[in-house]
Amino acid sequence: MTDATLLTLRPDAAGFAKAAAILRDGGLVSFPTETVYGLGADARNDRAIARIYAAKGRPSFNPLIVHLADLAAAQVLCEFNEDATRLAAAFWPGALTLVLPLRAHMGVSKLVTAGLDTLAVRVPDHPAAQGLLKAFDGPIAAPSANPSGRISPTTAVHVAAGLGNKINALIDDGPCTVGLESTIVSCVEAPALLRAGGIPAEALEACLGRSLKRPDDPDTPVSPGQLASHYAPKGTVRLNADRVEPGEVLLGFGAVDAALNLSPSGDLTEAAARLFDCLHQLDAMGAAKIAVSPVPDHGLGRAINDRLRRAAAPR
Ligand code: TXA
Ligand code: MG
Repeated sequence: MTDATLLTLRPDAAGFAKAAAILRDGGLVSFPTETVYGLGADARNDRAIARIYAAKGRPSFNPLIVHLADLAAAQVLCEFNEDATRLAAAFWPGALTLVLPLRAHMGVSKLVTAGLDTLAVRVPDHPAAQGLLKAFDGPIAAPSANPSGRISPTTAVHVAAGLGNKINALIDDGPCTVGLESTIVSCVEAPALLRAGGIPAEALEACLGRSLKRPDDPDTPVSPGQLASHYAPKGTVRLNADRVEPGEVLLGFGAVDAALNLSPSGDLTEAAARLFDCLHQLDAMGAAKIAVSPVPDHGLGRAINDRLRRAAAPR
C-alpha cells in the first residue's frame, strides 16, 4: 500500500476491522494505548516495518516493541523465565514492556529487533488497542507515533500533526490516560530497568522482591533507543527553574504561577498524563525558551524527569 491519505477510524468493530485489513495489506495504522499513541504495522512484514522506520525517520538500529493481545500470545514469541512470568502476571495488560529471548523461526521481521536475538513485548491495557489486536489476530509492532526525536503523541491530533501524511489510518479514541511510555525491563539476565515509564520501578521491585539493575549501573545492558536528545519541543528547555527569566515561558508543577501547569496540586500521575500534551502546546504557542519547575524524583516523577532531561539535552 502506497496511498498516504489519512483515514480516521472510530474505536468500534467496523473501525477495528478496517484497521486490521490495512495492517494485513502492509499499511500503517496509528492506534491509542494507555501510554501513548502507537504507529502499528504487521510485525511479520518486512516492507511494512521498513515503512515505520521511514515514516518516523528512525535510526534503523533502534528496535520496536511488539504488541500482543495477551500473555499466551507473547509466550509463543519469547522465552519467559520466572521473573518475566511474575511481572507479566502482575502488570499485564499494562504499561510494562519486557525484553526477552526471542524464539527462533517465529516469523518476526528482523527489522523489528534490529537484528538482536531479544524481543520487546507488551500487552496494552486499552480497549481500542485490544480491539485492534483481536481483529488483526497477530503481532503488531509499534513505536510511539511521533517523528523520531520529537514529542510523543498522547492524542490523535498530535499524531495527525506529526505523521498525518505518512500513515494510512488513525484510530481516534481521545487522550491517553497514562501519558508516558511503558516502563521497559529486560529479563534476559538479572532483571534490569532499561527505561523508566508508566509503571514506577518501585512497584516492579515490590513484585519481584528484589531491586532492578538501573540504567546507570555499568552492568545494565544499554537500550539502543535511549538517545540523549529525545522528546524535544522546538524551544530550548531549562530544568529545575525556581524563577522565570525574561523571555521564558514557565511549565509549572505544583502551586506556581505558570502559563501551563503539569499539575497545580502537585500530583505526579496527573503530571505524567499531561506532560507530552503540555510540550505540544508549548510548540503550538511558539515558545522559544521553556523553563520547567522542579518535579520530585520518585515514583512516576523519575520517568517524567527522564523525559524532561532528554527534552532539555543538547540537540
Ligand atoms: O508505551 C510504549 O512503550 C509505546 C506504546 C506505543 O506501546 N511504545 C514505545 O515505543 O514507546 P518506542 O519505539 O518509542 O520505544 C521502544 C523502546 C526503544 O527505546 C527501543 O530501543 C527499546 O524499546 N527496545 C525495543 N526492543 C528492544 C530490545 N530487544 N532490547 C532493548 N531495548 C529494546
Ligand atoms: Mg518513542
